[in-house]
Amino acid sequence: MLVHAGKCRLLLVQGDITQQHVDAIVNAANSRLAGGGGVDGAIHAAGGPDILEDTRRKYPNGCPVGDAVASSAGRLSAGYVIHTVGPVWQGGQSGEAEALASCFRKSLQVAVDLGCKSVAFPAISTGAYGYPRDLAANVSLKAVLDFLKWHRQPDEVRFVLFEEGVFGAFAHSLELLMK
Ligand code: APR
Repeated sequence: MLVHAGKCRLLLVQGDITQQHVDAIVNAANSRLAGGGGVDGAIHAAGGPDILEDTRRKYPNGCPVGDAVASSAGRLSAGYVIHTVGPVWQGGQSGEAEALASCFRKSLQVAVDLGCKSVAFPAISTGAYGYPRDLAANVSLKAVLDFLKWHRQPDEVRFVLFEEGVFGAFAHSLELLMK
């Protein structure tokens, strides 16, 4: 699914983010930047040990929830991995939506500052962190569309959604937002 936001493109695809040919891949990390399961595990497995070495050296204190930092991408074809830390779902009254939106804004700002023209995101917080997929889709897509509207870059943002159900939730949410 493809929509345009000014001269920028927003794409939804179903697949594995490690296989994407983009300038930056965003990782749904934990605040220790310690690696883990889910998309984090897949990115470290495909990119190799350089990624963890680089984050340990550059960010020994990790990264707070809602923030984003960049590392090398190791063996991945991307130029950078941008690590962002989503909120753990606690029922929705603990600032989860603001923290999730911030992940997208901060990651996109880091990407633009590094000169990236294409960026791939996973569905941050929708796995181990338990954010309901419909709510996450709405917050995530809105945050990206707002950023593209105001900053007019990067040229392309791609959501790479691993599970069919998550892809469906994002596609439905994007349809509603574009009405
Ligand atoms: N490509 C794209 N998306 C993927 C992939 C992949 N290869 N593998 C899993 N996903 C999807 C999941 O289906 C889910 O929709 O990524 C989404 C986010 O799930 P998680 O990876 O569990 O991330 P999150 O919910 O943000 O939890 C972060 O999990 O592994 C740990 O270190 C990580 O502690 C952190 C926590």
